[in-house]
Order: sequence, then structure tokens, then C-alpha cells
Amino acid sequence: MLVIEIRGLCKRYGQIKALDQFSLIVNQGEIFGLLGPNGAGKTTTIRILTTLARPTAGKVFISGWEVNRHSVRVKKEFGVVPQQLTLDVELTAWENLTLHGMLHKIPNRERNARIKELLAFVELEERSKDLVKDFSGGMKRRLMIARAMMQRPSILFLDEPTAGLDPQVRRQIWDLFRRLNGQGVTVFLTTHYIEEAEQICRRVGILNQGKLIALGTPDELKAKVGKVVVEVPNQCGTEYRVFESRETAVRYIAELNRDAVVRESNLEDVFIELTGLKVGD
Ligand SMILES: Nc1ncnc2c1ncn2[C@@H]1O[C@H](COP(=O)(O)OP(=O)(O)O)[C@@H](O)[C@H]1O
Ligand SMILES: [Mg+2]
Repeated sequence: MLVIEIRGLCKRYGQIKALDQFSLIVNQGEIFGLLGPNGAGKTTTIRILTTLARPTAGKVFISGWEVNRHSVRVKKEFGVVPQQLTLDVELTAWENLTLHGMLHKIPNRERNARIKELLAFVELEERSKDLVKDFSGGMKRRLMIARAMMQRPSILFLDEPTAGLDPQVRRQIWDLFRRLNGQGVTVFLTTHYIEEAEQICRRVGILNQGKLIALGTPDELKAKVGKVVVEVPNQCGTEYRVFESRETAVRYIAELNRDAVVRESNLEDVFIELTGLKVGD
């Protein structure tokens, strides 16, 4: 069943086309990743999907509701973890979640039970009475995820959820996504980390300059460019060539008679092949 539908989405900021005729369907129970460099339009997409911005043209639907027309109703369907920190750092973890629960009129008893359950889920139970300003980056992220799940949404939107976190902390957050997804939550995240898209997303959409330039499972996308990459160092940096199989790659290197590295292709190669740029550029 489809839970997120984006139809011909355009968003302009003056002369800038932040999103340009972008369409996409996400099914229930997916972990979907929107991968793209800075300025690709990832945050704009999340903002439109979560009612914070209006499209210039096109429509978006969440669980069948058109987001613009039913903004109050659709908010029951999703939780959001924005890119920037939006916790009150002068309050404790428990107080942050309480405040959120009160704002959303969750009855007291249910609210307290939910907070307890979620703090345990994100492994912050023991820190519930501590001020958020003393938390590490990973702990703050986990608390934001807990907060987004307070109303038991069926969809979780996350904008660059692991940006700036250490690799092992990032893995901890990925584990949370997998566990939430195991409970049936559809996860829609944006990222500029190739590894994040490859490791945890069932399907990936590659966004560049407001356009969706590729869509599929990581394996499908990599198969499109070729499975094996040969990197040959030269005076100007590195020359990349993509091959269908290891045998053809090895034959190429033998004929070239130079030092080269053979490796499996990744989503960075897909992006370079499609745009001529690196995601990090
Ligand atoms: N409020 C805004 N006003 C003007 N331009 C904006 C605004 N928000 C985003 N943009 C522009 O839209 C483009 C896409 O931005 P954004 O969605 O933030 O990309 P990403 O999240 O992928 O880095 C960029 O060129 C950005 O400068
Ligand atoms: Mg962004």
C-alpha cells in the first residue's frame, strides 16, 4: 500500500527551482532514502510533505490525504525529526517529551506511559531526569526520534538524521530505524551520506538540483552503472572506469599495465555517472 505520493512537485524561491517536476511513491513499511548533495532540495521536500511549506505546483499525499487541503488530519499520520536541533536544552529529556505531549493534548496517564516506553526504546531511560544541554549529539538525536514517535505515527520523516555524528553513533541510530521499521513504521529520510543510503534504505531516490535523477534499490542503481569500478591514479587525481564484471575489469587493467584499484561500485559512482559530480561537492 502506498503511503506517500509526490506528484509533479515544483517549488520555486524566486529564480531558484528548489524542486523541479519531482514525482515519487513510497510504500508502507519501507525505509526510503532521498540522497543528494547540499542544495538538492531534500529539506524542501520534507518541509512540503510535513505541511511546513507549500508547493509552487504539484501535489503531495500522505495516507491518501492531500497534504495542503488536510493539513490538520495528515499531521496525525507522521512524526518529524528536523535537521536542526529543536529540543529545549534547558529542560530534561522527560520534560521535553512532556511538553510535546501536552502541546499535542495526549492525556496525562497515556503520556507518562508513552514517555517511559520511548525513553527505554531509545536507551535514554537512565538519563530521563538530566538536562538535555549535557547530552551528546547522538543522545539528542535519539531524544528527537523519541519525541517524533510520541503520537504513534505510522510514518517517520527524518531530515539528515545522522549528519555530523560519529560512525558508531550513526550505527546506533540506524539500529533505531530498523527497530521502528520492524514495528511497521514507514521511514522516510534524507541524507548526503552514501553509506547511509546503501546500508539501511530499501529504496533510494537520488535528488540533484531539484530533480529526481534515479530511483531504485541500491543494488538496482549500482547495476545500472556497472558492478565493478577500476580506479587508476593519474596526474590530475583518479580516473574511474566502470565494468559489468570483475573479469572485464581485470582484463582492462592487464592491458593498461598500470597500478589500479578494483572495487565494487557504490552509490557515489551512480551519482558521479549521472551528474559528473560527487555527492560531497
Ligand atoms: N526559504 C528559502 N528561501 C530561498 N531559497 C531557499 C529556501 N529554502 C531553500 N532554498 C534553496 O532551495 C534549494 C534547495 O534547498 P534545500 O531543500 O535546503 O536543499 P538540501 O536540503 O538538499 O540541502 C537551495 O538552492 C536553497 O538555497
Ligand atoms: Mg537540507
